[in-house]
Amino acid sequence: MSQLQNDTFLRALMRQPTEYTPMWLMRQAGRYLPEYCETRKRAGSFLQLCKSPSMACEVTLQPLARYDLDAAILFSDILTVPDAMGLGLYFAEGEGPRFERPLKDEWEIRNLAAPDPHAELQYVMDAVSEIRRALGGSVPLIGFSGSPWTLACYMVEGGSSSDYRKVKSLMYSRPDLMHHILDVTTRAVIAYLNAQIEAGAQAVMVFDSWGGVLAHDAYREFSLAYLERIAAGLIREREERAVPSIVFTKGGGLWLEDIAAAGYSAVGLDWTVDLGKARALVGDKVALQGNLDPAVLFASPEAVAEQARRVLDSYGNHPGHVFNLGHGISQYTVPDNVSVLVETVHSHSRRMRQG
Ligand code: CP3
Repeated sequence: MSQLQNDTFLRALMRQPTEYTPMWLMRQAGRYLPEYCETRKRAGSFLQLCKSPSMACEVTLQPLARYDLDAAILFSDILTVPDAMGLGLYFAEGEGPRFERPLKDEWEIRNLAAPDPHAELQYVMDAVSEIRRALGGSVPLIGFSGSPWTLACYMVEGGSSSDYRKVKSLMYSRPDLMHHILDVTTRAVIAYLNAQIEAGAQAVMVFDSWGGVLAHDAYREFSLAYLERIAAGLIREREERAVPSIVFTKGGGLWLEDIAAAGYSAVGLDWTVDLGKARALVGDKVALQGNLDPAVLFASPEAVAEQARRVLDSYGNHPGHVFNLGHGISQYTVPDNVSVLVETVHSHSRRMRQG
């Protein structure tokens, strides 16, 4: 494997000093880019795009061709795992993800099995190796998975939800069945992430997008406990280098200290958190990733630059920060504002290093 030309992102995750603050954007390949919409049209659908390693590779590289980003992220979706478990993922136009066969009764739940990443999910591993080859050592490649709780939300609800009625009813009335789903899913996630690492992913991220909808005790029991098991099961070193891991619980700011102790290299934060206070709480235990409000990108270029500087200033001049948005970039983002953001983060953080 060739030497990495830009390993700033990996070093920041390991809390080593860097010349500037590295950045990437959650959902950096997506509908705000006309070239993405073009490829997706050619693919026929979002899912066919995910399932074609060459087109997944093509869209992964699109944001990197436009912007000076410090990492690439595998183009895929967290819901490929339940799809491989037989739930039948599809995307109804304008309605988001849906499952043909959501988990409804005890029998279905008891029959759930962790998929072999080299069988049903081989297309993801093929995409990882193809992207890694195409990157040619320019920037590191991030692999990812959904958290067991977040995947279970979709598997039980059958799609997106505003109140999590079905999954929370199951959790409170049949915690044994809920734990069974989470246990199988946890084993699936560990095998899936490790297979991505073996295929060439140089860092991994676990998206606990709906952990924040849980009550305080329920978060520990039904999300964090499984996030801890995943961290303990991940491959830690590969190609003679650490493989850092990131955990992101959206809405998890109040539980930051517990999340920071879960065993990951870094914690992703949404925009509700003050990075300076967060850093004071976690000290040098973990790196932090975040946390610009994605809605800032709807504003003027001046406002984008101003808000980006605020995020950098709030973290301060310490190692261990990866700049990102507090959640995925919106499809309504103006692409030119992303150029302003990347330029500002790099130049302002370089200036900060000079004191
Ligand atoms: O960051 C990246 O560029 C990598 C690609 C990526 C996608 N989904 C592509 C995608 C990643 C990391 C995800 C993760 C994902 N998927 C999460 C966790 C992160 C988060 O946002 O909280 C979740 C909850 C999902 C499930 C999912 N997939 C939803 C709810 C939707 C519909 C939302 C929407 O924007 O329409 C998707 C579809 C999806 N995944 C799109 C993309 C680019 C849009 C699909 C399209 O092209 O129509």
